[in-house]
Amino acid sequence: MTAIGIYDSGLGGLTVLRALQQQLPQEPVVYFGDTARVPKGTPSPGEFVTFWREILTWLGRQGVKMVLVACNTSSALVLEQLQREFPWPILGLILPGARAAVARGRRIGVLATPATVASGAYPRAIREACPQAGVWQVPCPALVPLIEQGYSHTPEMRQVLQRYLAPLLSVQVDTVVYGCTHYPLLDDLMAELLPPHVQRIDPAVALVQAAARELDALGLRHHGPTGGVRFGVSGDPVHFQHLAQRWLGTIPIVERVTLPTCLTVGD
Ligand code: DGL
Repeated sequence: MTAIGIYDSGLGGLTVLRALQQQLPQEPVVYFGDTARVPKGTPSPGEFVTFWREILTWLGRQGVKMVLVACNTSSALVLEQLQREFPWPILGLILPGARAAVARGRRIGVLATPATVASGAYPRAIREACPQAGVWQVPCPALVPLIEQGYSHTPEMRQVLQRYLAPLLSVQVDTVVYGCTHYPLLDDLMAELLPPHVQRIDPAVALVQAAARELDALGLRHHGPTGGVRFGVSGDPVHFQHLAQRWLGTIPIVERVTLPTCLTVGD
């Protein structure tokens, strides 16, 4: 077992891949984007577990030694269940993100998908890490679809983002957490729209630090030459290749993956 598996519904995992390649460039990676089912919307809890069970079963067959759940929604809703079911370490974003936020500020805004907001996972983790911290959340249902459709650098995106940031600006947050892995892809725009003193937290950076500690503790670090990345998607590989190219700076080779079928057992 050699590779680190990364999965998200689509492009969001690229922000985790970027953090991984910056901090642990020697690690080989298998990246899976569930683009056929993005955005996840509001599947039933049973369906949601089934999606991720299928993805993790596939990643397991590719020989992963660790998996980074590059999706806050999954980290909030199904992480513990998946950790119980699969044999390798599976790391999520919420705890590292919450700790990184309280290390920088006390008035913390969280932008996230409606499902992550509804789970209350970030406010819980932030208050556990720092009971004095104030937390304000904003659900941002439009952002993932706009990013996946390639509208990241448009006036429409700017308008939508201004609307989502307004409630956080009105309570004068000092820190904003990107509670969805797609949102660091909008970091340039966020930097323009937020006052300069507001800290912008990408939980992926802290997630990869946690992964490095875990790899060291388990003696699983890869010490060979720089590892490559294998990309798989469940939807159209060409569409993913086209959009990912903008963020990666190179044209990735992307294969279409047929996931193993896992049955949804009771909701
Ligand atoms: N990128 C995922 C997250 O971090 C959300 C993607 C989706 O809604 O499918 O929550």
